[in-house]
Amino acid sequence: MSLNNIEDIATFIVADGKGILAADESNPTCGKRFDSIGVESTEENRRDYRELLFRSKGMKDNIGGVILFDETIRQSAKDGTLLRDLIKNQSALPGIKVDKGLQPLEDCPGETVTIGLDGLDERLKEYSSMGAKFTKWRAVINIGDGLPSDKCIDANMEALADYAKCAQDTGMVPVVEPEVLMDGEHSIDECYEATERSLKSLFEHLEKKAVNIKGTLLKPNMVTSGKDASVQAGIDEVAKKTLNCLIANVPADLPGITFLSGGQSDVLATAHLDAMNKIGGFPWKLSFSYGRALQAAALQAWGGKSENVFISQDELSHRAEMNKLASLGEWEEDLEDR
Ligand code: 13P
Repeated sequence: MSLNNIEDIATFIVADGKGILAADESNPTCGKRFDSIGVESTEENRRDYRELLFRSKGMKDNIGGVILFDETIRQSAKDGTLLRDLIKNQSALPGIKVDKGLQPLEDCPGETVTIGLDGLDERLKEYSSMGAKFTKWRAVINIGDGLPSDKCIDANMEALADYAKCAQDTGMVPVVEPEVLMDGEHSIDECYEATERSLKSLFEHLEKKAVNIKGTLLKPNMVTSGKDASVQAGIDEVAKKTLNCLIANVPADLPGITFLSGGQSDVLATAHLDAMNKIGGFPWKLSFSYGRALQAAALQAWGGKSENVFISQDELSHRAEMNKLASLGEWEEDLEDR
């Protein structure tokens, strides 16, 4: 693969229905996932788990890029092969999370700003020398009483734009992730409004910093009801409202939108993506950059035991295949019966 130009890299990642495997859980987050299956979060266990994911058959043809955490981009598989080379062997591109997490936002109780601009340039150069072709930065927006504030949206979207410019200047594609959290009892319309305000601000800041939109990928939330809302919007409503919000706020020359799953069940995340692609009529590729919705079944099946590696890989392969079909609008619920 000789992809040296950011526009070609962005296009490659979402070509032919392919999407992104988000495997960039920080060590504390990975610890939480491992707790759920009773496995200790040691460096070796994290390595074994990521190795099994990246060797899964279903990576090929379905996954165009994998987002890694700093520890993983430096790790080698049991046989000494660098994990990032396993990804390349599957014809996918290694990517890297480059933000440094969340910090409380001054004078804005309940809100955070993502940090990591200090030293970013040096970190990006090192990751690029290791073969990373794309990068991710996640901003978090909460819905609540009077939230999100304009200050929170503005601070987070400005940082996203600064990061995106820096990534492009180092020859890597930025995946800009303004995540409006599902946590709460809010309605789907409140989610629409918070998502719209975030996207408007994001693209204004990207334009101000002269970020090349054709060399950028957007990783947004879908427009859904809050997790604890008493009325839950159905698949059609989520698909239509998400599409309306994106069409109204995302420039047409962006090559791809790769959704986060944000706590949706794995099949529902696939069903939503498929419903949008069945509707069609938008200018970008509409695909996935799922963490939990790609990994949940594989993690459960693995349970930390080497004898479960094959069934675990089969689970990841299945979800990767289903989501590729959803990105093409060709998924059917029956395909989930195996
Ligand atoms: P989820 O799909 O589990 O939300 O994770 C995607 C991700 O990378 C969040 O930053």
